[in-house]
Amino acid sequence: MEKMPYQPEVERAVKSTADSTTVASDWRERLPVIACTHMTLRDLELTDAPSLLALLSTEEVSRFISPPPTTVEGFENFIMWTHGERQAGRYACFAVVPHGMTTAIGLFQVRQLEAGFASAEWGFALGSAFWGTGMFAEGALQVVNFAIDTLGVGRLEARACIANGRGNGALRKIGAVQEGVLRRSFFKDGRHHDQILWSILAEEWKEAKAVSGSAIIH
Ligand SMILES: CC(C)(COP(=O)(O)OP(=O)(O)OC[C@H]1O[C@@H](n2cnc3c(N)ncnc32)[C@H](O)[C@@H]1OP(=O)(O)O)[C@@H](O)C(=O)NCCC(=O)NCCS
Repeated sequence: MEKMPYQPEVERAVKSTADSTTVASDWRERLPVIACTHMTLRDLELTDAPSLLALLSTEEVSRFISPPPTTVEGFENFIMWTHGERQAGRYACFAVVPHGMTTAIGLFQVRQLEAGFASAEWGFALGSAFWGTGMFAEGALQVVNFAIDTLGVGRLEARACIANGRGNGALRKIGAVQEGVLRRSFFKDGRHHDQILWSILAEEWKEAKAVSGSAIIH
């Protein structure tokens, strides 16, 4: 999962949010609400902070990702930062809200690597109670479609620590292609980890959809 810069640039992000004049139909103004079978994807809201803190700061979820905030306020700052980055047109972060719930149990994020999203990196995390429920694959397919069709991403990268079995299994399952190993590319808790670099190319994704009808799940 890419680094989630939770704390920095918050003041600028909040200012940028207040100054925005973008049109309502633009993803920069507000992300689309995407209804899936088991959950909805939508913009993060400040009220998601407590549930994200409870679910994403556990040891098993945060083990292979950049350290999440440790307080509700820290998550609120992160959420405001995501809104500012969206309005600046560099980044999109979807909250995962299961049907019957009102707050987020996880998130999917996409950030541009090149201006204009020719290439981008994505990352994701769900509360462990929701692992193995099918929510990852459902959300991932929608987020990849959004990245390719709306953001215009041509190449979508993901990095996962080699030891992160679920992270790598999840990426493989939705059709990402393993490209190589990034040696000592992630530092966590006093040690360096090697990461696997995965990619999805827009042309291949569209081709597979045309053949299979909807998804690339292996
Ligand atoms: C990554 C994450 C969002 C995936 O969601 P999930 O619900 O666990 O994913 P799924 O269960 O749909 O898919 C994981 C797949 O990996 C497989 N898997 C699990 N452990 C594995 C292991 N040690 N080695 C290989 N595959 C493994 C699972 O069997 C599953 O495949 P299957 O559905 O064909 O059986 C979730 O595990 C998570 O939030 N992890 C913590 C944060 C994180 O690591 N993010 C990713 C950074 S790249």
